[in-house]
Amino acid sequence: MSQVVLVVDDDPVQRRLVEAMVQRFGYEVLTADSGDAALTLLTGGNPIDAVVLDLVMPDLDGLGVLARLRDAGIGTPVIVQTAHGGIDNVVSAMRAGAADFVVKPVGPERLQVSLRNALAAKALAGELQRIKRKQEGTLTIDDVISRSPAMQSVLRAVEKAAASVIPVLIEGESGVGKELIARAIHGSGGRRAKPFIAVNCGALPETLVESILFGHEKGAFTGATEKHTGKFIEADGGTLFLDEVGELPLPAQVKLLRALQEGEVEPVGGRKSVKVDVRIVSATNRDLIADVKASRFREDLFYRLHVFPVNVPPLRRRPEDVPELTRHFLTRIAAEEGKRVRAITGEALALLSRYRWPGNVRQLENTVFRAVVLADGEEIGVSEFPQIAAQIDDDNATPVQPALEPVTALIDPWVAREASLAPAERHSLAGMGPTLRLTDTRGEVRPLEDIESEVIRFALSHYRGQMSEVARRLKIGRSTLYRKLEELELDGKEAPIKVNGAIGAP
Ligand SMILES: Nc1ncnc2c1ncn2[C@@H]1O[C@H](COP(=O)(O)OP(=O)(O)OP(=O)(O)O)[C@@H](O)[C@H]1O
Ligand SMILES: [Mg+2]
Repeated sequence: MSQVVLVVDDDPVQRRLVEAMVQRFGYEVLTADSGDAALTLLTGGNPIDAVVLDLVMPDLDGLGVLARLRDAGIGTPVIVQTAHGGIDNVVSAMRAGAADFVVKPVGPERLQVSLRNALAAKALAGELQRIKRKQEGTLTIDDVISRSPAMQSVLRAVEKAAASVIPVLIEGESGVGKELIARAIHGSGGRRAKPFIAVNCGALPETLVESILFGHEKGAFTGATEKHTGKFIEADGGTLFLDEVGELPLPAQVKLLRALQEGEVEPVGGRKSVKVDVRIVSATNRDLIADVKASRFREDLFYRLHVFPVNVPPLRRRPEDVPELTRHFLTRIAAEEGKRVRAITGEALALLSRYRWPGNVRQLENTVFRAVVLADGEEIGVSEFPQIAAQIDDDNATPVQPALEPVTALIDPWVAREASLAPAERHSLAGMGPTLRLTDTRGEVRPLEDIESEVIRFALSHYRGQMSEVARRLKIGRSTLYRKLEELELDGKEAPIKVNGAIGAP
């Protein structure tokens, strides 16, 4: 869908000239022969992305149009056209909110640059609103882009959590959007007018952790030349976001637990505790339960933080989000880079949706960035994603039996980790999806055939026996599927074996 430019001029020849130029740039053109006609179009809800406006017209002139637009709160960028020597008018027009001006007769290059800048500024204006909300701590759940059912249900839970002060632990791989969600929780709750303070627990020097979190008195230790308010006190009344909370050293964990239990902190070298009222949202991309098992993370603290766990699924589990996120990043980055890219082919979107995205949304954002920089035209295609295309080809060319693919796809770190847990622990991770046991009761690796059979049985039950869907998801042909059903003596109606709500070996 191309962007729409409205050309306003009472002189038919001038109007046709500009119209032809703008069409050649690849925009759609609407025309108006008077200020009044232009206003009717602009206020009538037509999707108009930019206006090229003649200043001198009978009745309602260009300045009049600008004034009416401003009164109506319409921010569509306007480029004014002025005759030679009309400098006073230009000044008035710029004051009245015009985005740029060009002198008649305008050359195509000048007009194209001007339009491109105006449109980029418009796309950025939307993004600026988001950035502004981010700075003010008023990003909300609506700012988290998602189409997939998986993410939608996560966001519904997040919305409920946001309305209370329940401690939230956000779990998920790197780059899935944990921090964005933490900010959205803050911005959607009753504390939105209060500070959102983020601390990256993994980046704190070990010797300063306590002082940074809880503050210190002047002279508390060598180098403490000034009194320092800790992050807890800074966040008073608002939200403290403990990012990478699993990285906290044990002594700091003890103090954190105490602060959470008592609702007060004790600055290093201080004599008395200070009452604080903070909401805690924490995040981790580590396996905190494994850390608890290995005594790297205090169990009591884990349960304090883990009151409301939120699992953000990796991007490969929600491919429906890929097109929406891609378009969003494309608009923003193209504007930032001043490129005229504004569309992506369906083929390229399909390619991106098939990729596994080990670096999740952050990787997608960087990939779109590269593509925008590479792009020459207005549309990005498959050729702008050489790495992704190559990796997908590699995946497909791997010389393994096709049936192995779905199995390896299931064995990602979450699943493998869960498979190694005792049933009770596995229970606490419920909601992360079904699991596949890789070892038998004696701890030996299970035969490939068993695993394959289990995956197929699960897929059959998961897609309620819809064979084409099962084949599509397993990325095997229907005939291969039928052959395997025969080999494995499955009849297509098998139900999976359930162990503690998870799919597992008997
Ligand atoms: N659903 C989304 N909608 C819009 N932008 C998103 C979404 N998810 C992630 N992003 C963007 O992707 C980038 C990575 O997100 P974020 O920093 O929140 O991830 P993270 O899970 O905290 O990663 P890490 O574990 O590496 O710290 C950010 O620029 C963020 O704005
Ligand atoms: Mg983060």
